[in-house]
Amino acid sequence: MIQPAMASSTAGGRPQIGVLISGRGSNLQALIDAIARGELRARIAVVISNRPGAPGLVRAEAGGIETVVLDHRTFSSRDAFDRAIAMALLDRGVRLVCLAGFMRLVGTPLLDAFPNAILNIHPSLLPAFPGLDAIGQAIAARVTITGVTVHLVDETLDGGPIVAQEAVPVLPSDTEETLAARIHAVEHRLLPAVVRALLAARTAV
Ligand code: GRF
Repeated sequence: MIQPAMASSTAGGRPQIGVLISGRGSNLQALIDAIARGELRARIAVVISNRPGAPGLVRAEAGGIETVVLDHRTFSSRDAFDRAIAMALLDRGVRLVCLAGFMRLVGTPLLDAFPNAILNIHPSLLPAFPGLDAIGQAIAARVTITGVTVHLVDETLDGGPIVAQEAVPVLPSDTEETLAARIHAVEHRLLPAVVRALLAARTAV
């Protein structure tokens, strides 16, 4: 059992969030920008990447945010990797965790440390097109509507309770690139909005 956080879960009255990434980090950037614009009253206490060279780490550093690299390949087991992530988050007083392009399945040690407090963003209208390359899957299936889902994370792949969704039309002329650009624009608006709503709801109870 991982010990509860000793660190304060607010900083200057702002709830602390942790962001997990594996790559580009454009959704991380959307959170950084929403905080900077005053639209999201929160502090990103730490950005954790399982990939040492993830470009999102540079975005975090540019935003003055602490970064931690926990390379899953260096851990003896999935549980050990999950426990290390949980400890890094708890140590910094994180209250809400956002998976923003984090390409690992989350296991019990991390889920137990943050019950109903881990969000994931996925580029489809779940339960359609879970897993990898959701945008390519939508193009291949010739659907006319796809979208973005923000959901709570459980032990399943993209299967936890849905918190918010927004539809994005697939145009006949769309390539994966043009559709991805419109989906990402929606993601960058939806994720900060959901984080804001969730933090507000949790502060109110
Ligand atoms: C996003 O499309 C997100 O929905 C999915 O992974 C992608 C991450 O993009 N889970 P970025 O790293 O935030 O730019």
